[in-house]
Amino acid sequence: MNSFISRRNLVAKTMQQLRHQTMLSSLKSAANLGYFKDDYSQLFLRSKKKLLPIMNRGTWARVFSIRSILLRFLNAYQNADKVNIMIPGAGYDTTFFCLQDLMREQKIPQNLQGKITVIEIDFFEVISKKIQIIKKHQNLVDMIRLESEQDIEVIHEKHINSHQYKVFCQDIREIELLQTNMANLGVDFNAPTLVITECLLVYLKKAESDSILKGLSQIFQSDLVYVNYEMIHPGDAFGRVMIENLEILRMKEQGGMSSADCYNMSQIYAKRLESTERHRIEKLEIFDEFEEWELLSKHYCLCLGKRIAEPSIDEQIII
Ligand SMILES: C[S@@+](CC[C@H](N)C(=O)[O-])C[C@H]1O[C@@H](n2cnc3c(N)ncnc32)[C@H](O)[C@@H]1O
Repeated sequence: MNSFISRRNLVAKTMQQLRHQTMLSSLKSAANLGYFKDDYSQLFLRSKKKLLPIMNRGTWARVFSIRSILLRFLNAYQNADKVNIMIPGAGYDTTFFCLQDLMREQKIPQNLQGKITVIEIDFFEVISKKIQIIKKHQNLVDMIRLESEQDIEVIHEKHINSHQYKVFCQDIREIELLQTNMANLGVDFNAPTLVITECLLVYLKKAESDSILKGLSQIFQSDLVYVNYEMIHPGDAFGRVMIENLEILRMKEQGGMSSADCYNMSQIYAKRLESTERHRIEKLEIFDEFEEWELLSKHYCLCLGKRIAEPSIDEQIII
């Protein structure tokens, strides 16, 4: 009984720490230890704090599963003229920069060179700080412009507008403004689009996230794939309903999706992640918090909703 209480305490403490730690410090800690490659998170955060193995494992599971879906999406649309990756509530997300590395390392279909547009939205305070940091690193600045854009000013105080990277500030709940802002920056609404939200919906009311999903499904005319990673409480009524049907139904009904799947991260870690990589990261740190990990990973979920016209493309994009 006592050990059960102390396990629950560790899980509660870890979750509390995770909430207070920025998502960025968990990315930086896990990347520094070799869980995955991300050379860029460290540029956005000075702290050298090393996090608990259980948190690094959770961060790896999140990053690896979302990156896998992202790569499946890019592979599936390798013959497209253009694709969008949209990240509402992006914070200091480094997907854009990591994608440039993956392209150079030929881990992304080369046909998509110059055809991927990453769109990030967050509040002014976050975006303006992010842009300030980007401007201080010439290697980041260089990655943003295509060769044909060398003479054009694409990085501004409050937004970035290059062919491959569009960053701007607004409250994501203002859907009409969102469409106008994206149209002004030249976003192609007819390109297949992957929307990624990580720990954003928790800040929103149910009606607000429903209307964002509905709005996005109307704005983007072509195939639409939506991935959401979120903290949940599987033991209580809210968590059970969310994972069992609410999220899935809401994605389908409000988001205009034709199919949707949702798993907690314990299910994903055990059954859905590539086992060679899993075995590799399991050797990176001494780890004996197995029961705590089981409890903690059930507090997070990953959902995937799709509206894809072509069945042969649809079957390639899975969790
Ligand atoms: C917990 S952070 C996650 C950041 C990033 N998605 C990641 O995984 O590293 C949530 C982000 O959502 C942003 N956010 C919350 N509500 C928002 C809203 N209504 N409109 C735009 N951004 C919002 C916050 O400013 C913050 O940067």
